[in-house]
Amino acid sequence: MNKLNIKITKPDDWHVHLRDDSMLEAVTNCSTRINQRCIVMPNLDIPITTQKQCLEYKEKIKSIANQKNFIPLVPCYLTENLNLIEFKDALENEIFVGAKLYPSNATTNSSFGVKKIENIFSSLEVLEEVNKPLLIHGEKVSEGVDIFDREKKFIDDELVLIRKKFPNLKIVLEHVSSKYGADFVNHNDNIAATITPQHLMLTKEDVFYNESLNPHHFCMPVVKEEKDLISLRSYASSGNKKFFIGTDSAPHHVDNKIPKLSCKPGIFSAPCSIELYTSIFDEEDALENLEDFCSINGPKFYDYPINNNTIELIKEEWIVPEFTIYKDVKIKNFFGGKKLNWKVK
Ligand code: NCD
Ligand code: ZN
Repeated sequence: MNKLNIKITKPDDWHVHLRDDSMLEAVTNCSTRINQRCIVMPNLDIPITTQKQCLEYKEKIKSIANQKNFIPLVPCYLTENLNLIEFKDALENEIFVGAKLYPSNATTNSSFGVKKIENIFSSLEVLEEVNKPLLIHGEKVSEGVDIFDREKKFIDDELVLIRKKFPNLKIVLEHVSSKYGADFVNHNDNIAATITPQHLMLTKEDVFYNESLNPHHFCMPVVKEEKDLISLRSYASSGNKKFFIGTDSAPHHVDNKIPKLSCKPGIFSAPCSIELYTSIFDEEDALENLEDFCSINGPKFYDYPINNNTIELIKEEWIVPEFTIYKDVKIKNFFGGKKLNWKVK
């Protein structure tokens, strides 16, 4: 019999962008409506690299959150010249949840990121020593590397090296986008991955078609081939403990999504992310594994308690609003204007 409702332990989102200023006010409660905790990415215009910035940002988020017991977690943005004493202190005091590696110029606000992996080995040593995770944007951007091969190239040239040099370092390969990446995670120790809704729903034809670009399906890493989508769907819906939710919901004002050279990568899915994941698991006939993916595998990997409250989803059609509009902010919602058949009760 088809299931008409499903109750799961309250989810967390292990990778989301909430930004700052009026954008932060516009999007925060799209995530707090269903999540108990979120890992909020530190790639603000001025990246979060110090304790002070991190504490202030978390306070700001909490002051906006409707749900007063919402917990924002923020990783330190790794640069090649961090103050390692402060970094270690902030990790030990649970100010930073871990650290985020952005290869320089791989994505939005990554120009302060890492140019040469060896230059952050001392930071990785600290992470390994205090047993805090390294979150990775796993794409190598260099001349001659096709945009569709960036994840594989990063794994082959850099992740393998990191894995070998720091065997006890906990790693999350964020927004894994390829079969190659997901297989790597599956076959190696101490590494897990988040998977976004878009990488479970779209292929490159949904982004690049008729020699033009759909800017609202453009994100980093770019969505790939059907074989990648099938592999990611299978890992996500199988209950495999190494894979868990991380929406990578990444809002940009619509004016920054006009197809031109500077079109910003990022897809804003927070208004319907849990509903999208539920529909995907329903399509895969795997609703019994939804809770593992959304609410159990993440906290287990991150060593956090599993939430003790629940949310309920019902099978009921609704249309996702086209835009999120607030003050001067206008964002195109992923799946906006389309019909979804799962809804949060
Ligand atoms: C993210 C953003 O806009 O901050 N963009 C994206 O395409 N995913 C950054 C990121 O996670 O790569
Ligand atoms: Zn992201």
